[in-house]
Amino acid sequence: MKTVALLVTLLGLSVSSFAQSVNPPHNLMPVPAALKFQPGRLPVTEQFTVAVRGHSDARLQAALARMMARLGARTGFTFTRGLASDADKASLMIACQGPGKAIPAVDEDETYTLEINDRQATLSAPTVVGVLRGLETILQLLNGDKDGHFLPAVSIQDKPRFPWRGLMIDIARHWQPMEVIKRNLDGMAAVKLNVLHLHITDDQGFRIESKPYPELQQRGSDGDFYTQDQMREIIEYARQRGIRVIPEFDMPGHTTAWFVSHPELASKPGPYEIERTWGIMQPVMDPTNEKLYELLDGFLGEMAALFPDAYLHIGGDEIEGLHWKENAKIQAFIQTKGLKDNHGLQAYFNQRVAQILTKHGKRVIGWDEVVHPDIPKNIVVQSWRGPESLAAAARQGYSGILSNGYYIDLMYPARDHYLNDPIPADTPLSINEQKLILGGEATMWSEWVSPETIDSRIWPRTAAIAERLWSPREVRDVADMYRRLAVMSKQLEAVGLQHLTYQTAMWRRALGAENDRATEFYSALEILTGLVEPVKGYRRGTMQQATQSMPLTRLVDMARPDSHSARAWAHEFDNFLYDILPLEKENLPAHQRAFLDQAFSTRTVTQSKNYDDWVKTLTDEMRRWRDLKPTFEEIGVRIPLLQEAKPLASDLSAIGKIGSQAMFYLVSGTLPSVEWRVIMLSRLDQAALPKAALELVAVQPIRELVIAACEWPNLKTMTAEEWKRHVKTLAAPKKQ
Ligand code: ACM
Repeated sequence: MKTVALLVTLLGLSVSSFAQSVNPPHNLMPVPAALKFQPGRLPVTEQFTVAVRGHSDARLQAALARMMARLGARTGFTFTRGLASDADKASLMIACQGPGKAIPAVDEDETYTLEINDRQATLSAPTVVGVLRGLETILQLLNGDKDGHFLPAVSIQDKPRFPWRGLMIDIARHWQPMEVIKRNLDGMAAVKLNVLHLHITDDQGFRIESKPYPELQQRGSDGDFYTQDQMREIIEYARQRGIRVIPEFDMPGHTTAWFVSHPELASKPGPYEIERTWGIMQPVMDPTNEKLYELLDGFLGEMAALFPDAYLHIGGDEIEGLHWKENAKIQAFIQTKGLKDNHGLQAYFNQRVAQILTKHGKRVIGWDEVVHPDIPKNIVVQSWRGPESLAAAARQGYSGILSNGYYIDLMYPARDHYLNDPIPADTPLSINEQKLILGGEATMWSEWVSPETIDSRIWPRTAAIAERLWSPREVRDVADMYRRLAVMSKQLEAVGLQHLTYQTAMWRRALGAENDRATEFYSALEILTGLVEPVKGYRRGTMQQATQSMPLTRLVDMARPDSHSARAWAHEFDNFLYDILPLEKENLPAHQRAFLDQAFSTRTVTQSKNYDDWVKTLTDEMRRWRDLKPTFEEIGVRIPLLQEAKPLASDLSAIGKIGSQAMFYLVSGTLPSVEWRVIMLSRLDQAALPKAALELVAVQPIRELVIAACEWPNLKTMTAEEWKRHVKTLAAPKKQ
């Protein structure tokens, strides 16, 4: 009976999901607001041409040239240069109504529609930026099979859910040169992000050229700063892609780098040096000093002219106010002005800065600490402390964007960011308050990234955030997101990002050219790195003593957040334990097995398999883990940089052995002793402890395998669903 029920459930599910999915699976990311695939295809051949009807300008034509270059790189076709004259006969016809905003702005119309049939693709948009968004969709639609390259017939009406979809890059903690910013702008454009927020100054660096105050960058940056010409180049590169650039000058805290040349602006006497480590530092501007506002007027006026965007970010985060407390003059100022406390003093400072920026034609954006009853309502609040602070700001009438939950520097999986919604379905906000939520920004704080690793910390996870901010709220199927993210990741590589390739380059460099066992060592590193992830949250800082000059070339830097291969293996173990094992234990007739094999045939890593194949695949993999230990002993001897891999390899070897034993118990139908269970789980707990700032992701599936080996007789009285819950509950990791 149970088996029949399970089969019916499976059949029922597949029938209803088929009925719902009018569209075949596609690779679009972000998913358009509305799309409908139709039968038919537009072949993409060497004769592919583009014509423009209506508005055309240099930005549009440059975008078309870039698109054709990408299409050419993919297909190998040499296309005819320039635009076709006969719009009716062109393969792709662009109908653009106008240029849109002269300066990219938050109220830019990014709408586009795309109609593709077997004769022509038509991309229509009210603005050039709308066309840019549609061109990226076309590139994502390009497909190929035995009959050649093609665009599928489709009808798309698309527009973003939120107007503010950003990526913040911190260029202060670790300097990020021009090529990093440019390739990331290309990545942003590919997933329809439209705001690059540059965190330009902090305790660790002052990274923009000031002409009236050149000492700021000269003494505050080690020579790593953007000249104004270079910054104009970035701004123009971004504009070409429909992306705004918002500069952040974090103040009054996070300002040590200013005080190297201007100690008189600080709340405590100098001298000051560029800060080389990370954390919340105490140096803070002295809001009682009129000279400070003179300098800010000059500097911010200069920056207001350099950056064309309507907004300028003043930071405002993490003021502990110790140096304010220690300064009698500042405390007296708080008393005489009736400012109440340090937060009141910060609000006073913010008001003064807001006045300066208003004078220079800018609107203010700041981190959520800037909210204060005395602060005008026309600022934008960027919430890093939580959705509550965003909601609270909206209730008080402030516009806001969400960054809490999009902290990609903290190494959480894409799934967590993806499900984090600026306006969740159960939002407590009224319709009018919801209108104040403009969107969100992923934040790439750069304490732990170098130009070499930064792409791997931004991508592909930021594509999942981009989808959250563009696509309808209902688009939230995590498995489908990961399927499309894997495709998108390669397309992001194709625009020049190095999130995939940096890793192999790092392995090769660490192993050295002359090493006679380099090939073997390389494979071992590949396996180990695939099964670990950097520790999450702010933990790395508690495990490694770092300074700005420490090379970020260690094992943890070689590992990717949200490891694709770890996730794929976990999925395999999941399939085995919760789908395949329950069926095997019920001894299904062969024809039912065949049906189920088919039902599972879309799974990752391995295609349809029977029980014995599953056992063999997983056992082989666990043997590979087990056998790594001696290789890493040798690597540790020869390569000091990789010595820290030894304990991890030892753990991986142990869990490989434990897993193989558990598999033996399951397959042979014998029960291990209670003692075995206790000892194995305790060893797994040990393996779960981070080492070298890395977590062994492979521990959890093996924990479940051990529990399953001890609990399998319960399967006789449980449904597959109950079995899964039972094992997962008993195998839940200890809270660390
Ligand atoms: C922040 O993360 N301190 C804005």
